[in-house]
Amino acid sequence: MHSFRYRDGHLYCEDVDLVHVAEQLGTPTYVYSAETILDHYARLDAALAPLDHLICYAVKANSNRAILKLLANAGAGFDIVSGGELYRVLAAGGDPAKCTFAGVGKSPEEIEYALEQRVCSFNVESEAELDHIDQIAGAKKTRAPIALRVNPDVDPHTHEYISTGSHQNKFGIALDRIGAIYEQAAKMRNVEIVGVQMHIGSQISEAKPFASAIGKVAPVVRELKLKYGIKFLSVGGGMGIIYQSALESGSGKWWHEHRSESFAFSVRDYAGAIVPPLRELDVRILVEPGRFLVGNGGVLLTHVRYIKKTDAKKFAIVDAGMNDLIRPALYQSYHEIVPVCRASAATDAGAEKVDIVGPVCESGDFFALDREMPELHEGDLLAIMSAGAYGFVMASNYNSRPLPGEALVRGDKFTLIRKRQTWEDLMRDEV
Ligand code: LLP
Repeated sequence: MHSFRYRDGHLYCEDVDLVHVAEQLGTPTYVYSAETILDHYARLDAALAPLDHLICYAVKANSNRAILKLLANAGAGFDIVSGGELYRVLAAGGDPAKCTFAGVGKSPEEIEYALEQRVCSFNVESEAELDHIDQIAGAKKTRAPIALRVNPDVDPHTHEYISTGSHQNKFGIALDRIGAIYEQAAKMRNVEIVGVQMHIGSQISEAKPFASAIGKVAPVVRELKLKYGIKFLSVGGGMGIIYQSALESGSGKWWHEHRSESFAFSVRDYAGAIVPPLRELDVRILVEPGRFLVGNGGVLLTHVRYIKKTDAKKFAIVDAGMNDLIRPALYQSYHEIVPVCRASAATDAGAEKVDIVGPVCESGDFFALDREMPELHEGDLLAIMSAGAYGFVMASNYNSRPLPGEALVRGDKFTLIRKRQTWEDLMRDEV
């Protein structure tokens, strides 16, 4: 369930009118719903209840401290990929003992910091990295808890940039090499084998690839448990969400009104496929969802600045750009775009095709091409849906555009959780 719905012709986030947010904070602004994020967390937690499990939120999806704090208070652990993410998690009150540290290129400083903070595990992606961790832990007279990331070589059927579990990718260690590298690790004096990890990709919209990967890795887990007494298997993240359901053709209704689930496949399908084989393994199960928890919990508000008509096209030029939300430009990804006030944008009757584009000087700066929309006018307020994951975190200052603001809604109140940058901010760190 997500909490963006029309009420009296206006799009609301929980009990907050998004027109009001745009008036107060300006645009472009990201708006997140605490209720949605916590609802998704609770559903996943309940579905995994038959397992001894820990949900480690993938911080990379949305790392605002207020979001991390929400999830830390709900009991979440965190999947981090940099020293910066660990720093944020600690600042938000997260428990380092519930943090797993992933990533193919950890720096010595990051390894030292994570050792000092006593993270639960380093998810190791290569022999070279294992050597480094051993040396650094030795120099600090401590032992590093490690899990190797196994690459099960399954095709998750998703965009090539976010597919990670095949041998063509830079991630993890091949199944046929994993035993030998665990043996090396067992001989190292400064590492302690605690688990095994995998992650096959992101925005996966069916349960099957997860089940196949678990099927391939299960025998390895059994062996590692016998040999080294490993305590956990992390099955990674990657659960897909619904981005595209569009207005039901001809009905004039927008999808929020009749979608009860906002997931690509239901959490029940996911749990149904993974819980039975995992239960048998009798180790703690970690999951690392990012998008699933926050993706449909956020929108990007933007105003139509100009309408431009050419012989070939109608363009709605909005005040958000690819620097604010790069997913359409980078992955050709679809985001639903809806008018916040339906009164000013009519219904299906006035539908026309329009390119919704940003002000950045690149032809790739678009949010939608040839999108059927109600007739748009200058000044209309739009919501780019499903922007809670990999939205703000991938934003940049390209074209010297200040980063957008972020707000968090709880019930009938909203709080600014990150100020929009100013022009001064753009040059603050230049020397
Ligand atoms: N665990 C690991 C090891 C990962 O690499 C990732 C994501 C996750 C968990 C969380 O995956 P999720 O549950 O969010 O699918 N920027 C891209 C997505 C990149 C995902 C990278 N790794 C996008 O906007 O679609």
